[in-house]
Amino acid sequence: MNIHQFDVIVVGAGGAGLMAGLYASRGAKTAVISKLYPTRSHTGAAQGGISAALGNLEEDRVEWHTYDSVKGSDYLGDQDAIEFMCQEAPDAILELEHMGLPFDRTAEGRISQRPFGGHTNNETGKPVRRACHAADRTGHMILQTLYQQCLKNNVNFYDEYQVLDLLIENGKAVGVVAVELSTGELHTFHAKSVILATGGHGRIFEVTSNAYAYTGDGAAMVLRRGLPLEDMEFFQFHPTGIYKLGILITEGVRGEGGILINGNGERFMPKYAPKVKDLASRDVISRAIYTEIREGRGINGQNYVYLDVRPESVIKYAALDGRTNLDGSPFVVTADELLKKLPDIVDFNRVYLGIDPMTQMMPIQPTAHYTMGGIPTNKFGEVILDDKKTVLPGLYAAGECACVSVHGGNRLGTNSLLDLVVFGKYAGLRAAEYANQVEFENLPTDAEAGARSQFDALRHGSGKENVYDISREMKKVMFDLVGIYRNEQDMLSAIEKVRELQERYQHVKITDGGKVFNTELINAWELGNMLELAEVIAVSALNRKESRGGHSREDYPSRDDKDWLKHTLATKQADKIKIEYKPVVITKYQPKERVY
Ligand code: FUM
Repeated sequence: MNIHQFDVIVVGAGGAGLMAGLYASRGAKTAVISKLYPTRSHTGAAQGGISAALGNLEEDRVEWHTYDSVKGSDYLGDQDAIEFMCQEAPDAILELEHMGLPFDRTAEGRISQRPFGGHTNNETGKPVRRACHAADRTGHMILQTLYQQCLKNNVNFYDEYQVLDLLIENGKAVGVVAVELSTGELHTFHAKSVILATGGHGRIFEVTSNAYAYTGDGAAMVLRRGLPLEDMEFFQFHPTGIYKLGILITEGVRGEGGILINGNGERFMPKYAPKVKDLASRDVISRAIYTEIREGRGINGQNYVYLDVRPESVIKYAALDGRTNLDGSPFVVTADELLKKLPDIVDFNRVYLGIDPMTQMMPIQPTAHYTMGGIPTNKFGEVILDDKKTVLPGLYAAGECACVSVHGGNRLGTNSLLDLVVFGKYAGLRAAEYANQVEFENLPTDAEAGARSQFDALRHGSGKENVYDISREMKKVMFDLVGIYRNEQDMLSAIEKVRELQERYQHVKITDGGKVFNTELINAWELGNMLELAEVIAVSALNRKESRGGHSREDYPSRDDKDWLKHTLATKQADKIKIEYKPVVITKYQPKERVY
């Protein structure tokens, strides 16, 4: 047996995992385990910015950021956690800057900020420049910066190790079991604290901005251990993915003045969000695009609309909206200036579509983007088990796999990078502090049994089912029937289909019997995770009989605070999903109608 012992084990090396690893390593012997090389983690795909009320270009306040996030969450976010995150934000940005993150600058040398959906000046209701950015590669820069800091701090890395199982003994987390992808060998990591930072699960859906690795491994492991997942019905569709491919076109494009255009050549967002128009929150814009498409106003009657950031359009609509420079002069912009701010977007369009966004409009459709639900935690990253907030000792989660809950029913753009930096830090601190107070618990007898049996079942199955066929069917069902608009009939069909796919999954055939980088086996194992989570998403969504944030039911079109201002906690018990609830923390902001 390969056994390793660390005070703190972090699973996942995206922004949350690296921040947690960095902070934990300052006080305890720490290792980060990742199925990828750290700098290939999905945080690298985050483009437009990270939010903080720095007020570098115009007045901004932490209270405005807090209120916008509460309102954006459709009042499902826990307000104590949102207040904490927004208060921490300015220091978090300065810390990243001091670590060397190359933020774009204002003429005076301050960190530059751009507008983003749902972030407003609470007095005027107009968009405020709150997103700190490094061109349209902000996540990439965060990842590189944090990885360098971790190396400098001697964090131990186990790259290309897929964690398969979470070990719990005597009611405490005691480690994980992983397979080393290059050899197929199992390894047991014995720890006092385990931090899950495994990211989201957007690959469940057919059209997604998410990386191939985003298969919900951490959340599925937790579910298999009988622990709850919170608010899994809330999944965010980003309004602007490249048509059919799903690749993210940052909201920063609209922050720089881009607008959405339907098949009649009309700008349609003023109809849905008269105040902030193309910078409304994502749930509002994704629904607006779908409504345009469903009512026959897609481009050429098809399932997409245009995003227009051609300089002449940006100038024209800025004048119509009364958008000026900060000194009040008319807003103008050149293609060169836009190119500097959005280099990757221009490249993606040239490479994948053969079009130039400086002279042509981009075909876009909403794309499955962000997991609002996940492993329930408090604001220190401690995993909680129930409505009384009972903590499972030694287990932590941070980043997209966690649900603190700061995003509630709908996340504001740029709050995800903030979430992973802030809560990654506190999870790391708390995990190290705990590890320094306790002794190692014994590992369970035959710690690898769970992981081995999962792999053996796949390897030695006698069936003929094809992993990729099942995967394709799951993605289509989830995108079509549990997507932007939902109704009871569709979701019942989706649940039936997902259960049928789970049954077929028991009979998959793995053709590669090798041990070295057996990606077929790993893909099959990941599919198992996604099928489990797909069922939880669909059952939780069917159960919530209201519309709120990203969960939009045609049969229950209104938000219902009387019956549904509560978090869902879903556990898997004897092949059934059991649903319980947890209250939402309200501090200052009583729920009211959201108007954009
Ligand atoms: O649009 C974007 O750049 C995405 C950012 C985010 O999801 O926060």
